[in-house]
Amino acid sequence: MHTLDELKKYARERYIPVMLDDTKQLLFDEVRQRLPRRILEIGTAIGYSGIVMLSASPEATLNTVELSERSAALARENFRERGMLDRVNIFIGDAREIVPQLTGSYDFIFMDGPKGQYETFFPYLTELLTVGGALVCDNVLYKGLVEHVPDDKRHKHITVARNMRAFLQDITADPRFDTVLHRVGDGVTVSTKKF
Ligand SMILES: C[S@@+](CC[C@H](N)C(=O)[O-])C[C@H]1O[C@@H](n2cnc3c(N)ncnc32)[C@H](O)[C@@H]1O
Repeated sequence: MHTLDELKKYARERYIPVMLDDTKQLLFDEVRQRLPRRILEIGTAIGYSGIVMLSASPEATLNTVELSERSAALARENFRERGMLDRVNIFIGDAREIVPQLTGSYDFIFMDGPKGQYETFFPYLTELLTVGGALVCDNVLYKGLVEHVPDDKRHKHITVARNMRAFLQDITADPRFDTVLHRVGDGVTVSTKKF
């Protein structure tokens, strides 16, 4: 069985993004403290973050959405190797189509998929999240560009940075959530749904 460090190395060598070490620790701690039963994740990649969450909450199941069939296949193998596959459903496809169709409820949601779409997914995820549950969003400071959006309109990351800034402002101001911004990794919000 590959260790988590080996999985991370494997992914990075193939330019498959997986979360940074500080983010991994924060995610593990949040899940361990809250012990959710039903977790939703947007952006499976090769299952690294999913394995972290399922390890932290041994009773939890995970529904996770991934666009890339190749990454999803690798994730399935990695979950299988750890005996976790029966706790996981991988939805393969575009989260922009899948998220609006999701039903049921989740007590922990990890958003780590397409960076320009957080604002679009936010109302759906809010609906799916139970009161007391947590919505954790990675990359909310987006390479530092969210707080310092470049003037150059041709900058390739500018649209994502603007979308992310709008999302960060909205979720921070939303009275339904208590949101804490953690300046670890690429910026992570942890938002607890109050009502
Ligand atoms: C940052 S990676 C996820 C990393 C993973 N959560 C981890 O830390 O191990 C983002 C993932 O979102 C996927 N993705 C990008 N656009 C997507 C979309 N529109 N729908 C579903 N998944 C998408 C990418 O293929 C990629 O695997």
